[in-house]
Amino acid sequence: MDVEEILKFADNLVFTKTRKHLDNVQEAILLGAWSGQKYPKIAEEAYCSEGHARDVASDLWKILSDILGEAVNKSNFRSTFKRLQISNVSSPIGKAFVGIYNINVCTDNFHSPEVSKDRSPFTPTPENTQPQIRQDLRDAPDISSFYGRTSELATLQQWIVQEGCRLVAILGISGIGKTAIALHLLPQIQHQFDYIIWRSLGTSPTLETTLKSLIKFLSNRHETEVPASTDELLSLLMEKLRSHRCLIILDDVQTILSHRQIAGNYRPEYENYSTLFKLIGSTCHNSCLILNSWEPPKDIVALTRESARVRNLKLDGLGAAAGEILREKGLLDESKWESLINIYRCNPLWLKIIAAMIQELLSGRVAEFLKYDTLFFPEELKARLQQQCDRLSELEKQLMCCIGNEIEPVSISQLLEKVQLSPSELFNALQSLGGRALVEKQEQDNQTLFTLSPVIRQYVKTEYFSDEK
Ligand SMILES: Nc1ncnc2c1ncn2[C@@H]1O[C@H](COP(=O)(O)OP(=O)(O)O)[C@@H](O)[C@H]1O
Ligand SMILES: [Mg+2]
Repeated sequence: MDVEEILKFADNLVFTKTRKHLDNVQEAILLGAWSGQKYPKIAEEAYCSEGHARDVASDLWKILSDILGEAVNKSNFRSTFKRLQISNVSSPIGKAFVGIYNINVCTDNFHSPEVSKDRSPFTPTPENTQPQIRQDLRDAPDISSFYGRTSELATLQQWIVQEGCRLVAILGISGIGKTAIALHLLPQIQHQFDYIIWRSLGTSPTLETTLKSLIKFLSNRHETEVPASTDELLSLLMEKLRSHRCLIILDDVQTILSHRQIAGNYRPEYENYSTLFKLIGSTCHNSCLILNSWEPPKDIVALTRESARVRNLKLDGLGAAAGEILREKGLLDESKWESLINIYRCNPLWLKIIAAMIQELLSGRVAEFLKYDTLFFPEELKARLQQQCDRLSELEKQLMCCIGNEIEPVSISQLLEKVQLSPSELFNALQSLGGRALVEKQEQDNQTLFTLSPVIRQYVKTEYFSDEK
């Protein structure tokens, strides 16, 4: 750690607390303290009186002591800062943490969470430590228990680390675990990157807002230093993605996609995200964008066809590991879990919701729950499904009703006899429903058959298309 780095780091710390960078006198104090100078000499270097230098120093030591949670003064400044191994981590809950050795000092007293976003890339790399990564995970949820997904994690790691994929879409129905898997992938791949930033599109930010937020973090710029035009923002971002290895995770991308149309179209005011995805997917750089969505944006489908470095991972249910969720929730009658897991299609969120209900009403007795031979829809599950089904186009709704009314899986030719759709409309609607993971597909006797999972079928029949009952 040389003195330049020390100054940068100290500047960074002071800025996060005071929103002001080090001035000349403060810099002279730190340089002087680092090289063991006395205050008269420091004052001389700073062109100020000794009294002024001492006053400024006293404030500065207080600021640094507050942030670091230990007394810092002129005599211990050098040893304290040499001892520090700094990792910059913005926690999911938006507080800024400075990791010192193994202790996380929560610098909760930062004036504003905005400020902590803009910390400069201070990356001391003592010989025996990992290179430092700048991370901004403030938008990411808290880590919670996580089971299975070994092969999916291995696939993602292979694509991103070994094969250098530039754009990876993690797709799947709400609650299947897209956010969770992306979060658990980070420790496996983070050392490949200089910067990691997680942003949620949950509030439907415009492209400009998203780009500004990415650039502010990746380029360590302040609001006023970020260009205003979308083109400039895009070119600045791409420049950064070329010059550094950046990992960007955009969660909840479905919010920028339109309702009541075939899956994957952008909402009118969000069309320009298409340019971002295309630039990241098809130009040369060593960075990666992971995006999580209920359905693939249309460009991703096209880019996947054209470039080996753009991939889609469709997340299915959790498989056998889903039992661990029931165990965690303290459910009983383990021999019956398989039926329950199958009904709720190994969807971790659905299982969590239903497990909570079984625990609350039946003290965890799964066998008793299954005896009712009906499918329960706690309000939370209903609301989740509603959000997804509300996005369907008229053709898709028609098709869902038709497939939902059939007990057995149906073929395309059977569907054509039942619905008032041309073959091409039927193909488009089926493909779109497949992209949304709302219909299940199976191969039987050389035919492709379509059906709905029990939960979706019940939902379609009783909640959404009640006129079809
Ligand atoms: N592999 C897993 N093991 C345990 N819980 C999981 C797993 N994947 C997801 N979950 C839990 O299921 C819920 C939904 O997961 P989430 O990642 O938010 O789904 P999505 O982003 O696809 O909507 C969360 O409570 C999450 O913690
Ligand atoms: Mg999610």
